[in-house]
Amino acid sequence: MKGMVISMTQEFLTPSDKRTKYCGEFSSSDIGKTVCVMGWVQRQRDLGSLIFIDLRDRSGIIQLAFDENTDREIFEKAFALRSEYVVTAKGTVRARGEGAVNKNLPTGEIEIAVNELKLLSEAETPPFEITENSPVKPELRLRYRYLDMRRPDLNSRIIARSKIAKITRDFYYDNGFVEIETPNLIAPTPEGARDYLVPSRVHHGCFYALPQSPQLYKQLLMLSGFDRDIQLARCFRDEDLRSDRQPEFTQIDVEMSFVRQDDIIEITESFLKYLFKEFLGIELPLPLPRLTYMEAMERFGSDKPDMRFGIELVNLTEAVRSCSFKVFSGAVEAGGSVRGINVKGGAKFSRKEIDSLTEMAKTYRAKGLAWLKKSGGEISSSFAKFLSDEENCTISEMMQLEEGDLLLIVADTNKVVFDSLGALRCEAARRLGLIEQGIFKLLWVTEFPLLEYSEDDGRYYSKHHPFTMPMEEDLDALEKGENLDKIRSIAYDIVINGTEAGGGSVRISRPDIQKKVFKALGMSEEESQSKFGFLLEAYKYGAPPHAGMAFGFDRLVALLLGIEDIRDVIAFPKVQNASELMTKCPTPGDPDALAELGINIAEETSN
Ligand code: AMO
Ligand code: AMP
Repeated sequence: MKGMVISMTQEFLTPSDKRTKYCGEFSSSDIGKTVCVMGWVQRQRDLGSLIFIDLRDRSGIIQLAFDENTDREIFEKAFALRSEYVVTAKGTVRARGEGAVNKNLPTGEIEIAVNELKLLSEAETPPFEITENSPVKPELRLRYRYLDMRRPDLNSRIIARSKIAKITRDFYYDNGFVEIETPNLIAPTPEGARDYLVPSRVHHGCFYALPQSPQLYKQLLMLSGFDRDIQLARCFRDEDLRSDRQPEFTQIDVEMSFVRQDDIIEITESFLKYLFKEFLGIELPLPLPRLTYMEAMERFGSDKPDMRFGIELVNLTEAVRSCSFKVFSGAVEAGGSVRGINVKGGAKFSRKEIDSLTEMAKTYRAKGLAWLKKSGGEISSSFAKFLSDEENCTISEMMQLEEGDLLLIVADTNKVVFDSLGALRCEAARRLGLIEQGIFKLLWVTEFPLLEYSEDDGRYYSKHHPFTMPMEEDLDALEKGENLDKIRSIAYDIVINGTEAGGGSVRISRPDIQKKVFKALGMSEEESQSKFGFLLEAYKYGAPPHAGMAFGFDRLVALLLGIEDIRDVIAFPKVQNASELMTKCPTPGDPDALAELGINIAEETSN
């Protein structure tokens, strides 16, 4: 029949076309049964007197078989099928012949001998082959995301996401949490990113903000007495995208009344234990370790340390305070610090590799990277010549230098030192293959600073959000407006394998404290009244102490699946520049719609 063109009519489903089960669910126990399957043609193999079709649906693949016993008309139909045609087939499940068993396929021992076949939809040749690892640019995959999601790998991730959502809801519902949806057209809620604004047609010149989080609403629900609230909330943040950030993402938002930090930590740990057991079959040891923010920074240079490997920071500040090397002593004199890491086995890095680590340090504003390596008993170093033998000896001892080690040292402000060494520690571990895959290291980071000073803007910002309770010990400093950057807050993050998976805080439930925080943030009485007057008012009418947290749901799913980029667990993600390649949004505003909204688009100015 080769070369014959057979035209096939597309048919509709009839009442008798009822799927028995999904393709991947058949097994040898179905042999002899008459069944009905539906799906896409993964591929058709024409062996002359035999035709095999791999039929695919979301569960997997089953082989359809057509041979000399197949009705001629059906055989011809099977011959005409092409990849991605949509069909329904009826037939009898039978064991595959000797030698035809496919051990790589869960249904590889069986096939369906088809006696009824309907074409439901033809398909043009897709822009790329729908198989794993087909060499296709990511942009093309995203442009045809609906096709890419037919790929079992991606398809199963999206289904896994739904399972994790169910496990989440099951846990919180079973623990007395109520799911309450909060609005998406709201007044701005500060979470540190830019808002997405939605113009109002009715209120000329006015805008809604899309929620960066349901923060204020979930707090107000506590004031309403709901006591325990859970929500899988869509959040919108206009910020620079990275592999763990999307402009539109989902949070598991939790809020509880009459609780303290430990209560939130306890319920969250129980949730994680349940999730890891249900989804991964892993027994998570509890309680999880906790580090204060200061400890995390001092030891790992990061508030989200990856605990799958060591390489801790060593503080050399005192040892080099009065050394002759100006790069070191100058940084200390200027109020900064000098710290280093010992990369065990790093001496094998070439000069070029060390140069690329230096470049990396510079992206964190380090002015340079001092290094020293010991290889074959020989020391080579960028800085040893500037120090006395005794000073070199002290550094080597403090950093426990041994054969094969590479020391990396940064001298700068604390922020630059922590940021650069924190990143170098992870990069060195990656390069040396020290990060064991498939393991999970979780920890809590607590006692975050309440405020963060921005040199650029010359003012303080909330490290978490402005509704976060300062630690009681530090209320005095808030009262006096002194040492604002030293004030610690009752805020906590849950960190999984070096990713901030979630964060939360005890909330301020007293208007007097809330006013002081607004003041520390440089907000005038009028400004805080106009922005958050409703909140200050609400708290006058009996507020239970409350606290909560939010997981980044996309991040949590990606972590559980061992995936780097959260795009891979989102059905229709956006790309780096926040556009979506399939619908090409954002699109220019329709002139009539803009006129109705009273919006004039200014000419783009280069800035
Ligand atoms: P936070 O701003 O820390 O806290 O956000 C909580 C968690 O949400 C995830 N996340 C993101 N995920 C993907 N893309 C993004 N752009 C993005 N931004 C944040 C992170 C983060 O840990 N209202 C508070 C929570 C609370 O206090 O209850 C909040 O939103 O995993
Ligand atoms: P220089 O005297 O500028 O040639 O610097 C000598 C060594 O110190 C070089 O390896 C530099 O990369 C390194 N270095 C310069 N600035 C710093 C810094 N802020 N922290 C650590 N090392 C630095």
